Amino acid sequence: MVGYAFMGAAHSQAWRTVNRVFDLPLRARLTAVCGRDESNVRAAASRLGWERAVTDWRELVASDDIDVIDICTPGDSHCEIAIAALAAGKHVICEKPLANTVEEARSMVAAAEAARAGGVRSMCGYNYRRVPAVSYLRQLVAGGRLGTIRHVRAVYLQDWIVDPEFPLVWRLQKDKAGSGALGDIGAHIVDLTQYVTGQAVTGVSALTETFIKERPLPSASSGLSASGGAETGTVTVDDAALFIARLSGGAVATYEASRFATGRKNGLRVELNGSKGSAVFDLERLNELEFYDGTGPGAEQGFTRILVTEPDHPYVAAWWPPGHGLGYEHSFTHQMRDFVEAVATGKDPEPSFADAFQVQRVLDAVERSSASGSGWTDV
Ligand SMILES: NC(=O)c1ccc[n+]([C@@H]2O[C@H](COP(=O)([O-])OP(=O)(O)OC[C@H]3O[C@@H](n4cnc5c(N)ncnc54)[C@H](O)[C@@H]3O)[C@@H](O)[C@H]2O)c1
Repeated sequence: MVGYAFMGAAHSQAWRTVNRVFDLPLRARLTAVCGRDESNVRAAASRLGWERAVTDWRELVASDDIDVIDICTPGDSHCEIAIAALAAGKHVICEKPLANTVEEARSMVAAAEAARAGGVRSMCGYNYRRVPAVSYLRQLVAGGRLGTIRHVRAVYLQDWIVDPEFPLVWRLQKDKAGSGALGDIGAHIVDLTQYVTGQAVTGVSALTETFIKERPLPSASSGLSASGGAETGTVTVDDAALFIARLSGGAVATYEASRFATGRKNGLRVELNGSKGSAVFDLERLNELEFYDGTGPGAEQGFTRILVTEPDHPYVAAWWPPGHGLGYEHSFTHQMRDFVEAVATGKDPEPSFADAFQVQRVLDAVERSSASGSGWTDV
């Protein structure tokens, strides 16, 4: 695994758990973790359960005892690490967004396709697909329970940079992060809605905004929490991105991604309205799904709260009895389960790099539309 902070910790937890919860044909061994600072990465290895610590990811790629490279770094290093790992015959799981640009993402897809011919697998980490309620929502849509999807309404709202004194961490720098709220959280709702509807975004009209244009340079930085010094620098990404979109199956959609939604901590909410029914998923209540079945008797109609903790629901049977809910971290364990099973059975895991490339093209269309005064822009 490369990178050991936020996603590194979440992935480590998942790798440690996956074989204890799920029966799988292969066992995950936490062989080596990479970071740039020797003493920090050693401490991380010990804390997170990795056998050894290295300071150059190339060492992982060159190691004979490593079969999988798990990329948990900012977007500026995804492309180089993934392509080198695939060329060395390592299966790759790469955090989202796949890359910082469409060009990088395209070259990653080419590398993945070439490696696939030799049985080498690759996957992008859009973990919210693996929240049981989201997986179940996809099943409801695919089974026709919502009918023809007409509306998709998606928001992903956070508030961690409302304070203008919050420093210029890597997520606020285009060369490190690619984009701001758009690629960080907007990417999740694009992937999630494309996944549950089975439809691709084909065109957008967008606007993006950067409310705070100068911020203190970080004096001490660690992911989402950091403190600033006296000097300032320019914010080079969006603070918020809003867009309307058309989907390939005829649905129309609205998307909003913001880090300035005061009071909203990790507010991901998706509503679908179809010809036969509607459904709502809200990450703050991730064990639940609201479902409106418009085909029942009129007098009984209303939104039903489904508690997605039954053994019949995706992934749930391996965990606890009905009603004993799961949380954020479990989506990562499910991600590793599906990845390990795909590797073991010689199948391609999803979302593939090509799926993640489609998301990247949507992000790119949003930026181009915004730059053109919100003009309609095909993906
Ligand atoms: N799936 C999700 O829900 C989710 C959530 C947060 C972040 N992410 C994604 O995960 C990735 C990492 O984000 P994060 O929040 O974990 O960031 P973070 O800042 O918490 O951690 C980044 C880690 O990468 C390391 N790193 C950076 N460059 C490196 C290099 N060249 N070699 C080795 N290590 C390097 C840093 O030292 C740190 O350990 C990003 O692509 C981000 O978009 C996904």
